[in-house]
Amino acid sequence: MSKSNTKIRKCLFPAAGYGTRFLPATKAIPKEMLPVLTKPLLQYGVEEAITADIETMAIVTGRGKRAIEDHFDISYELEHQIKGTSKEHYLTEIRKVITNCTFSYTRQIEMKGLGHAILSGETLIGDEPFAVILADDLCDNEGESVLLQMTKLYEKYKCSIVAVEEIPMDETNKYGVIAGDPLEESVLRVTNMVEKPDPKDAPSNLAIIGRYILTPDIFDIIRDTKPGKGGEIQITDALLTQANEGRVIAYKFEGTRFDCGSVDGFVEATNYFYGKSKS
Ligand code: UTP
Repeated sequence: MSKSNTKIRKCLFPAAGYGTRFLPATKAIPKEMLPVLTKPLLQYGVEEAITADIETMAIVTGRGKRAIEDHFDISYELEHQIKGTSKEHYLTEIRKVITNCTFSYTRQIEMKGLGHAILSGETLIGDEPFAVILADDLCDNEGESVLLQMTKLYEKYKCSIVAVEEIPMDETNKYGVIAGDPLEESVLRVTNMVEKPDPKDAPSNLAIIGRYILTPDIFDIIRDTKPGKGGEIQITDALLTQANEGRVIAYKFEGTRFDCGSVDGFVEATNYFYGKSKS
């Protein structure tokens, strides 16, 4: 069976960034462990991957690794303490995640950018197509999750996929921005992509958000990708190589995304999920 026919079985979570916008909170705790209500961002991401029928979670960590590993592990002391008490239900959600998934970890030794973080995950992914979730982009949808929408699309197109959304033109310098030709409703074949362009240089207002499906040849491409914007190895630059061969599609997903890497987005997400929990 050709590798591209493989079902998406693994999800990679780059979680090694410094999270400087959330200092001092992120001094000893990874940004991905900050909670929206009571749940860490990374757990929302893992639960989204589960909705797409993915059970193998591959996490790229840097500093603060222990908090992530401990979160996705049994705490025997805690279990013992609250078993049979009225508080036991507080553990239900995380128990479900731990029971249904396997977690593996690797470290990105130097923070050389998202492309480099993804390459660091090669050892956990191997030679098969995989999903990527940036947990600081928190997505919610009443119907199918954003990642499930994308894995379904992968079955049709069998190539790399980036999730995109329309942004105000004056924010293009915060995102990877694409240009593409329409293929079907909400789907474009990517013809160009630029990392954090000035609005005047942006090829459109379609920004890449933190959900990707990548084919495994991306690892070799990243290895050959020179540092780009900000001196970092950018996944956008690596994907452009695939896009030049017509092998990347952009998908305008259904759902809401919160940029929880920024304080404003984080507060918005908190208000949104609080409202939802009360309705
Ligand atoms: P960001 O661009 O949000 O960077 O990374 P950051 O370091 O996390 O946050 P700020 O800008 O300093 O506040 C986007 C995603 O890529 C991961 C981050 O963990 C985050 O999920 N990342 C980024 C890495 O894993 N390694 C890197 O070298 C860079």
